[in-house]
Amino acid sequence: MNYNVAVIKGDGIGPEIVDEALKVMNKVGEKFHHTFSYTDLLLGGVSIDVHGVPLTDETVLAAKAADAVLMGSIGGDTNTSPWYKLPANLRPEAGLLGIRKELNLFANLRPAYLYEELKAACPIKDEIIGSGFDMMIIRELTGGLYFGERKTIEENGVTTAIDTLTYTEPEIRRIAIRGFEIAMKRKKKLTSVDKANVLDSSRLWRKIVTEVSKDYPEVTLEHMLVDNCAMQLVRDPGQFDVILTENMFGDILSDEASMVTGSIGMLSSASLNDTKFGLYEPSHGSAPDIAGEDKANPIATILSAAMMLRYSFDLDQEAQAVEMAVQKVLKDGYRTGDIMSQGCTLVGTKKMGDLIVDRI
Ligand code: IPM
Ligand code: MG
Repeated sequence: MNYNVAVIKGDGIGPEIVDEALKVMNKVGEKFHHTFSYTDLLLGGVSIDVHGVPLTDETVLAAKAADAVLMGSIGGDTNTSPWYKLPANLRPEAGLLGIRKELNLFANLRPAYLYEELKAACPIKDEIIGSGFDMMIIRELTGGLYFGERKTIEENGVTTAIDTLTYTEPEIRRIAIRGFEIAMKRKKKLTSVDKANVLDSSRLWRKIVTEVSKDYPEVTLEHMLVDNCAMQLVRDPGQFDVILTENMFGDILSDEASMVTGSIGMLSSASLNDTKFGLYEPSHGSAPDIAGEDKANPIATILSAAMMLRYSFDLDQEAQAVEMAVQKVLKDGYRTGDIMSQGCTLVGTKKMGDLIVDRI
């Protein structure tokens, strides 16, 4: 089969880590007799440098025409990069939010689990880690505070900034259905996270999630307030299977969950619409401080490519081959700087990619 993949390398370490993921895809193609064709697209800071805007119609159209999108990372150092002198709607992040909305990528899947081999990097005490943890954070990605009306106004000499948090019933229902479908394929436990003791949008969230749960009697549903969830993620991360939450809470909790695993450089993500189409990117940022130094960990991007094989192309066996190769490399003791521990072999970005390719 031939698959058309739109490739957004982006900013910072993006180009380096995506190059390694493409090497891996090509090896998968060779081994399993598929061809992957790539179209490079600009998004974020590089797009600002070339076109003056972080997202062009051309990028949107080409992404829509592809079978899936593989992305590195976007954005620069917010203190020093000239991109951050631009108005907010022209900064790199606006490009990312724009493409999420244009492609209707409402379901963001962010797996967070503890690699046995990387236990040493986990900041949590052994007695809390127990038998490890493996959760899937499902974050609503095209609604809520990120996309509500916002403005800054001046009234009687007082400056006021306003952001609006809006959710409609259909928006909640479709992400809830996605959450329960995924929970059915896992340990059948879903924790819906909200702030229903304060927010109307959360009360609607809770009501709709409860309604949807009636269609999935096998899934155990619990509701948890977001502040409690932030605490529980550190106190006992093993209690979670699927966490379903709205956009802003999901942004914060997914960073927390990834840190709890001790290996943010390892975690992939998928942003899906209601077809097989998706955008796949690492959970981490663009790390401008180490860009171009062959230091970045390409594994999160490589695992994101594996998610693409599985979710967009239904190539389960191929995805598994990639995941096993990553596991093997870790077992063999190779580490990039972010996950380095005593007795292991320190390798750079390219070498890590090569080692994974060798094991497919
Ligand atoms: C993420 C990022 C983005 C977000 C930023 C870069 C706009 O933090 O994907 O989690 O907040 O969604
Ligand atoms: Mg984030």
